[in-house]
Amino acid sequence: MPAPILVTGGCGFIGSNFIRLILETEPEVSLINLDQLTYAGNLANLTDVADNPRYRFVHGDIADRTVVRQLVQSGVSGIINFAAESHVDRSIQDSGPFIRTNIVGTQTLLDAAREFSVPRYLQVSTDEVYGSLGASGFFTEETPLAPNSPYSASKAAADLLVRAYVHTFNFPAVVTRCSNNYGPYQFPEKLIPLFITNLQRDESVPVYGDGQNVRDWIHVLDHARAIWAVYRQGRVGEVYNAGGHSEKTNLELTHLLLDILGKPKTLIKYVKDRPGHDRRYAIDTSKIEKELGWKPKVTFEQGLRDTVQWYLDHPDWIAGIRTGDYLKYYQKQYGQMAC
Ligand code: NAD
Ligand code: TYD
Repeated sequence: MPAPILVTGGCGFIGSNFIRLILETEPEVSLINLDQLTYAGNLANLTDVADNPRYRFVHGDIADRTVVRQLVQSGVSGIINFAAESHVDRSIQDSGPFIRTNIVGTQTLLDAAREFSVPRYLQVSTDEVYGSLGASGFFTEETPLAPNSPYSASKAAADLLVRAYVHTFNFPAVVTRCSNNYGPYQFPEKLIPLFITNLQRDESVPVYGDGQNVRDWIHVLDHARAIWAVYRQGRVGEVYNAGGHSEKTNLELTHLLLDILGKPKTLIKYVKDRPGHDRRYAIDTSKIEKELGWKPKVTFEQGLRDTVQWYLDHPDWIAGIRTGDYLKYYQKQYGQMAC
């Protein structure tokens, strides 16, 4: 069995779906998951694989040089960096944790990977680094970076660090930039799980501004498959966009959720817009499709129904988050949490 791949941020939404998928589909691969268990990290996302002999959880911070060096020195065949502060609204409240985790954390991983000659590094980035589109056009890998939120600025900074390490040190990195993900285990601060869990309780859903902002939605497993394709076959130094070809205004999406859950439109509540709110994201995925043969498989209609059903089927998972029980458990297990 080859040395394990170090996955960071694997207790979050996308990382946990990625870990489950890889353990299921790649019998020769073993994984170490380094996660700080912030408010967004949840061990309950991976209970079903916790005892898998090809999986190991390590509690720690990607910006902690000692922890990262120790792990990387112990021998890893690659690094896939999911760990991040990921919520735009939180970055508007306080950008500090975003700078530390998203930028300093990435630098710490890059330095350790260089020091111990790790042969492969994948940076999980976002389409938000490209900024905002007008009514037409798509982000390609050549679109200039123009981040508009502290979150996207910190992700763009990390991408540029990766680029610089490739250029300066011949560092073997690849970058993925994906659109908005949805699916099981997403923390209910993001639009889809927030709206589902509010509607389940007949609570209103807060639509920012006029609700006409457009996002391109992709199922999290399609994103996980894109990351794996790029990790395995992407060309060093290259960026690969991924997206779901499912552009929806926030209002269209809200109506779909109301329909699926059989709730009235009166639950829509228009609230003050997010400052600097990006108007539209849309992705040109031709590079990853042509070069790596990747395509999204999950249709938005089916994926959204399945996602709603997942939240309906997992009241304990939601209750754990709402009551904060999972954070209390970590405090007992690991000491004070950074959240
Ligand atoms: P998430 O917020 O659900 O999970 C983040 C995870 O990182 C959590 O488990 C958290 O505990 C961990 N973490 C945070 N700071 C850490 C630190 N300093 N050290 C170790 N672990 C730390 O995020 P997500 O939605 O799963 O996103 C994962 C990655 O994908 C991020 O890099 C994000 O920028 C990127 N991305 C997300 C989306 C999306 O729609 N959610 C789209 C494109 C790209
Ligand atoms: P979000 O899920 O936070 O992802 P991102 O900001 O990274 O795209 O938001 C998706 C869209 O939904 C975005 O246009 C902001 C909007 N939104 C609301 O209208 N209400 C909400 O309560 C939230 C969380 C988001």
